[in-house]
Amino acid sequence: MSDRYAVLGNPVKHSRSPAIHALFARQTGQAVRYEALMPALDGFGAFVADLQARGLRGCNVTLPFKQEAWALATGLSEHARRAGAVNTLSFQPDGRIQGANTDGVGLVRDLQRFGIAPPGLRILLLGAGGASRGVLQPLLEQAPEQLHIANRTPEKARELAQAFAAFGAVSGGGYTALDGPFDLIINATAASIAGDLPPLPAGILLEGGSAYDMMYGAEPTPFMDWAQVHGAGRVLDGLGMLVEQAAESFYIWRGVRPETTSVLETVRSRL
Ligand code: ATR
Repeated sequence: MSDRYAVLGNPVKHSRSPAIHALFARQTGQAVRYEALMPALDGFGAFVADLQARGLRGCNVTLPFKQEAWALATGLSEHARRAGAVNTLSFQPDGRIQGANTDGVGLVRDLQRFGIAPPGLRILLLGAGGASRGVLQPLLEQAPEQLHIANRTPEKARELAQAFAAFGAVSGGGYTALDGPFDLIINATAASIAGDLPPLPAGILLEGGSAYDMMYGAEPTPFMDWAQVHGAGRVLDGLGMLVEQAAESFYIWRGVRPETTSVLETVRSRL
């Protein structure tokens, strides 16, 4: 009998997580079944309780439920508690629900795959919503020279910077008067979903620098196109982060760390 897991999102139809976890299970020989499920927008808590009652071992959580998952967890990893968002729930035999957030580790591992080591880098993080909040602590723990958060609503970026000030050199503000250039720009805004580009000033990316969009798709996002035109040496999408956060969730649940490079290649070839 396989142990069962799921990813919960709304919508969830296009999630790559079932394919990724099926590849992990086959590679590691773990007896795992993983499916995509869609709770009603107002029914997340009841849905999770039902999964627990049906004997599932855990689930991943994606938009728009990451904050609700955080609130629902009876125990949180230190990082998840600070992130205010959870993407990995583990159902314990005694009924407790442990919450973790593997997004930030996923981003850092994917950057490392491409030889982008944050220590000493000047990083510009675009956006001050949940996606940014989820990756701030792991990024700062890598000791970049500077991490600046830019947001349309500057106050949100300043507040976020303040909340994470204990972890390193982090500041926040709007898109004007940015003190560039930056070695690495990470797009954590929702702009790509709408086919939009954050209002980036010219000259903000160092010639030959790196650009990373947390979104992914068959085509480059507007931000990736912008970076290509503005002299980026490396332009990356978020598919690697997706695979890496999944690997970390798999490790939390199974105690086994899957190899990710071949899985990323397979998933990319299916985009
Ligand atoms: P979540 O918490 O799920 O990430 P969110 O709180 O709506 O979602 O955050 C989305 C982020 O993308 C915010 O930083 C938002 O900027 P504002 O805080 O100013 O709203 C940013 N964002 C969304 N659309 C954008 C766009 N077209 N250009 C630039 N930033 C955008």
